[in-house]
Amino acid sequence: MQALPDPRTLQALPLPDRVMMTDPTYFDVETVQNPHMEGNVDGIDRYQARLQWREVADAYRSVGMPLDVLPPEPFLPDYVFCANQTLPLPSGLLAGGPAAIRSIMRSARREPEVPHVVRALEHRGVEVQSLDPYLVPRFEGTGDALWHPGRAFLYGGTGPRSTEQAYRFISTWTGVPVVIMNLVDPRFYHLDTCLAPLDESTAVCFPGAFDDEGLEVLRRCFPRLLEVGEADAMWMFCNGHCPDGKTYIVQEGSAAAADVRALGYEVIEVETGEFRKAGGSVFCMKLAFWSV
Ligand code: ARG
Repeated sequence: MQALPDPRTLQALPLPDRVMMTDPTYFDVETVQNPHMEGNVDGIDRYQARLQWREVADAYRSVGMPLDVLPPEPFLPDYVFCANQTLPLPSGLLAGGPAAIRSIMRSARREPEVPHVVRALEHRGVEVQSLDPYLVPRFEGTGDALWHPGRAFLYGGTGPRSTEQAYRFISTWTGVPVVIMNLVDPRFYHLDTCLAPLDESTAVCFPGAFDDEGLEVLRRCFPRLLEVGEADAMWMFCNGHCPDGKTYIVQEGSAAAADVRALGYEVIEVETGEFRKAGGSVFCMKLAFWSV
């Protein structure tokens, strides 16, 4: 077991104050990059995708979260998943103001998405820093690096997409402890497909995606850990997002939604079926960042 601090004793941080989404005009499944995409090449209904994307955007607006929409980029079918190109940080950890760390995508097909998100963040006053690609093979931003809500503590997913080296640099640069979470099931290829922290004490996870050590970390860090079943996890129930510590925005139709409601959260259910064909849902379709 890695030395594990109690996250609730670490430096308090504000929650991200803004959300960014990327226009889905060119969203598509062109090649298979994760098991969810199998059988879905050329199988996207663009009209449905746009309606579903709007539903997600409306959910953020309905909770009063400021939302920025980036224009579409042709030839970038996965650009709509804007959780992956950077890891945003609050003011004072990496720079005086808000900051972000630029990803190094596993797929050369996705790498050209990165400069678009980086420019959009820089335009909003976010200072973006790069990892050295000779020292860090891969890092996919908030697909794999998840904040403990409200605390200077990161869960760093490793396996199909991100490598441990990234977290060593991030931790050294920022002073933020990072606990490595080994992903053992290829269907849960990003940490955000199997873990959703809701607030300082509460998270939703799919236990089968973690090794024993990872599961032990989650049980110790979140006194209220809701462990969901495989069917809900495959339906992307762990890929929801809680922007405010009160509301869980998530793919509709999972049994576990009632359990989250029973814990006192408002659950906003949205349909993201076209995006699930590409292996993503609500959490992947937005970037939460700090603008001040
Ligand atoms: N098709 C994309 C990929 O395989 C989906 C990314 C989903 N994003 C996420 N944060 N899980 O890279």
